[in-house]
Amino acid sequence: MQLCIALDFEEKSKNISLLRELKGLNIWIKVGLQAYIRDGASFIEEIKKIDSHFKIFLDLKLYDIPNTMANAALECAKIGVDMITLHTSSAAEAMEKVMQNLSKNLKRPLVMGVTALTSFDEESFKSIYNSSLQPHTINLAKIAYQSGLDGVVCSVHESLLIKQATNFNFLTLTPGIRPFNETKDDQKRVADLKEAKNALSDFIVIGRPIYQSNDPLKITQKILTNLGKFK
Ligand code: C5P
Repeated sequence: MQLCIALDFEEKSKNISLLRELKGLNIWIKVGLQAYIRDGASFIEEIKKIDSHFKIFLDLKLYDIPNTMANAALECAKIGVDMITLHTSSAAEAMEKVMQNLSKNLKRPLVMGVTALTSFDEESFKSIYNSSLQPHTINLAKIAYQSGLDGVVCSVHESLLIKQATNFNFLTLTPGIRPFNETKDDQKRVADLKEAKNALSDFIVIGRPIYQSNDPLKITQKILTNLGKFK
């Protein structure tokens, strides 16, 4: 299981300081909408200069018509990132077109499809989609699998069910992790490290429990030790 740390500070300088502190660790760095819109593609270069071994996850959650999505995904790949996201509700045609277009790039990033955001609970999900969260999520994951994606973004509570419904090699990336049972913030479907391991999550995403902690390095080392990735 790999650890992705969300760079969600409100200022670039704070994200840079965090990266300098975490330099040398076996981690993935998640650049989301806020940092990317504010700091642009050159920020990705800056991250690599701090530590060329950091893996970069560009989490822009693409959602548009197939042609626009496929072209946007290729532009993400050209930046040289290791993983990107798109919305599975964009449907099979869009996802297939993305995968086809990415095959033009020599180094293709992993492509993960967002199913249901972890900030949804059953009630808020039903109010938007008029269907039940878990079967809807599994259906989206199956379509993503058939469309050739590498995996999906889901909560820990759906990770195992998705693997059973698709393939155990189909990756799951699970946000909403509160490693040692910290506060939930705006997340609804949270889980701790033990639950993430039991659900066979391939990637866990952790933001606030790390970057808002008094000692981000210490908690990151504690998480990596728990995952057997820090000695
Ligand atoms: O601070 P916290 O650990 O809740 O951050 C989770 C990160 O994962 C945020 O950057 C958020 O955008 C992202 N994310 C999520 N739920 C998804 C996909 C991404 O929380 N389904």
